[in-house]
Amino acid sequence: MSKIKTLKNVDVKNKRVLVRVDFDVPMDDKLNIVDNSRIKGCLSTFEYLIKQKAKIILISHTGRPNGKKDKKLSLKSIVGELGKLLNKKILFSSEIFGVKVKEKIKKMKFGDILLLENIRFWKQEEQNDQEFAKKIAELGDIYINESFAVSHRKHASIVGIPQFLPSVAGFLLEKEIEELDKILKKPMKPLVAIIGGAKIETKIKVINKFLKIADKVLIGGALANTIFASQGIAMGESKIDKESFGEVKKINLKNHKLFLPIDLGIWDGKNVIYRDVGSLQWFEKALDIGPKTIHLFNDIILKSKMVVWNGPLGLIGQKPFDRASKELIGVIDKGGIYAVVGGGDTNAFINEIGKKEIFNWVSTGGGAMLDYLSEGTLPGIEALRE
Ligand code: 3PG
Repeated sequence: MSKIKTLKNVDVKNKRVLVRVDFDVPMDDKLNIVDNSRIKGCLSTFEYLIKQKAKIILISHTGRPNGKKDKKLSLKSIVGELGKLLNKKILFSSEIFGVKVKEKIKKMKFGDILLLENIRFWKQEEQNDQEFAKKIAELGDIYINESFAVSHRKHASIVGIPQFLPSVAGFLLEKEIEELDKILKKPMKPLVAIIGGAKIETKIKVINKFLKIADKVLIGGALANTIFASQGIAMGESKIDKESFGEVKKINLKNHKLFLPIDLGIWDGKNVIYRDVGSLQWFEKALDIGPKTIHLFNDIILKSKMVVWNGPLGLIGQKPFDRASKELIGVIDKGGIYAVVGGGDTNAFINEIGKKEIFNWVSTGGGAMLDYLSEGTLPGIEALRE
């Protein structure tokens, strides 16, 4: 397999460089950016391109507008933050191909940055329309993929444009690959994988992969609720995903490496109580793993050398159901364990409680991280091979 080229392998001096970034950042109702990590993650690539005097044309999406224009999802909201972080004026174009934007690029000075409007306002993006990809490719001389978090999507800006231009990985994409490969190719042992959150269908493959390469796999969150419910265990009013019951069969629940909660933190409508799995009343709701499970998990984690974590163990937005996730972070910190974390909710949580620094790598990907860990590559990475 040919190696992928990276930014340092190409000459970008005085070139028009198309950079696919992922500015799909969490925002509040007033369109204030709540977490700018994904923008910050691209800064070293931008700074390098500015120094090299390239014309920098940024392509991104945000949200899921389904091929329709939506003011709330305009990338205009990013211009101010990006300008602040780079201390530079950022140009914006509501067109993403055609004469007008070509004219704009012609007038740009080398080192200038132009941000194009949300590419998902055009339905051809998600359809990976070749004509559409070609028209956008005409805006540049080189394509850089700096959007690990979307590289699991076979979209025009991820796999289409690289067919028409010399294409390389940006510094952030390169770093994501390097860090996740440490887990896949040379993990420190014992390696422990912690998988939580909901969306079981996105997690089956990665659970099975870690049952092969990790020493222990710990499961929590709504994922565990669904597994229990699929086995006929009463889960009361807990969040479960009935449609995924069939998927659960794809996990070998008898595998000795797999650890499910033994007790749960429950909301009984008035109070928080703890119950063993199997003893929930019909009106009770499991919102976290319980103290016995926390103790068991902490013990396993303290004996490990490397931890990979995706998806919260409980309802992190609501105290005290963030207890297990908080304790998990505490124990990783205490043990000085090499830890890699990812996933939108998990990342937002560690940011909010100011614990980002204890992690050796915080992946910008959610679904992309899970897919990379399952498959060892992504469509957007494969598109960069010659
Ligand atoms: C993400 O937020 O994980 C990426 O931006 C991908 O978004 P998507 O799931 O809407 O494709």
